[in-house]
Amino acid sequence: MNLFLFLAFVSGVLSIPVFNPNTKISPKKRNGLSLKYLYVGERGTIQRIKTSGYWLTVEATANVTERAHQRTALTTARLTKHMPSSIFHSLCVNAKVGVFTKAEGMTSFLEYAAQRDTPQCHQTCAGSCSHTCTRDGRKFSELVGGSGHGLAAVLDGNVMCSDADPYRGQSNILVHEFAHTVHRRALPYSIKNQITSAFQSARQNCTWDIYSYAMSNEMEYFAEAVSSFFNVERLQSAAGGMNTCGHGLCNNENESKNNIKQKDPKLYNIINQVFLNNNETKMANLGNCVT
Ligand SMILES: *[C@@H]1O[C@H](CO)[C@@H](O)[C@H](O)[C@H]1NC(C)=O
Ligand SMILES: *[C@@H]1O[C@H](CO)[C@@H](O)[C@H](O)[C@H]1NC(C)=O
Ligand SMILES: *[C@@H]1O[C@H](CO)[C@@H](O)[C@H](O)[C@H]1NC(C)=O
Ligand SMILES: *[C@@H]1O[C@H](CO)[C@@H](O)[C@H](O)[C@H]1NC(C)=O
Ligand SMILES: [Zn+2]
Repeated sequence: MNLFLFLAFVSGVLSIPVFNPNTKISPKKRNGLSLKYLYVGERGTIQRIKTSGYWLTVEATANVTERAHQRTALTTARLTKHMPSSIFHSLCVNAKVGVFTKAEGMTSFLEYAAQRDTPQCHQTCAGSCSHTCTRDGRKFSELVGGSGHGLAAVLDGNVMCSDADPYRGQSNILVHEFAHTVHRRALPYSIKNQITSAFQSARQNCTWDIYSYAMSNEMEYFAEAVSSFFNVERLQSAAGGMNTCGHGLCNNENESKNNIKQKDPKLYNIINQVFLNNNETKMANLGNCVT
């Protein structure tokens, strides 16, 4: 049977109703790489085939389970469903989401192919091996997530909060990386400039712990703020106070967003606009271990 038709048939049937986590989907081969696909549409719909209109691609490497793939798509859907259409459309055109297993590694994706580890570069970042490592000396092939090349990528163990999650369910890396991707690929200059301005004010006012990861630059400021806003960052050192209400961690999404609203209104307005289309009563209900 014609392979394309066969896959289209299987995909079409399985797309209604969407989710039986036990179904097994054969990966499609593209440029020698086997990937599986789900597509997130406007207002949070998820399907297996790309129909007309705008769809955000959520791809999975061959060994990712159906359940982990679906959870990745679900988080993506909850994050994007309230966005203004213009931002969502830019994302669909300029970005993708990806999930991979530890053994396959983030560099399985074509976007990161140039950063793949090689036998000659095993355990070294020196000299001609520098392209296989991040600036702070970690192998790209061993990262938990990344947001380069228009692909927000995450390890399946983090999505599932399994034993393979180095963050032990304390930090939703997909949300963090996805925020970077939105920032880089989908925001108009007017909003990027607002982020720059909010970051500078926050630094001048010492609104957040200036030695935290969140305050290291405006990219991390935005990503940590988005994770904290949606109550999926539990690491206090990373967020520099963005996730701290009173003396402890904020308890829920409502408390989390109100904390940022009160302490950094400029930042709050940006996230409220980008993710909630200025309707602050909307909830994403993300959680660190999405069910
Ligand atoms: C993928 O899974 C198959 C079957 O379990 C296994 O043989 C293979 O080594 C895995 N590949 C990677 C790269 O993890
Ligand atoms: C922070 O600083 C800016 C100027 O840099 C000022 O306009 C703003 O009101 C300050 N915000 C807070 C919350 O202190
Ligand atoms: C949300 O939180 C604010 C302050 O943190 C509180 O005043 C308000 O009652 C809460 N609303 C809901 C619906 O929980
Ligand atoms: C904002 O969202 C709430 C909850 O979904 C909805 O009831 C309300 O109509 C929305 N407001 C506007 C102005 O769209
Ligand atoms: Zn980051």
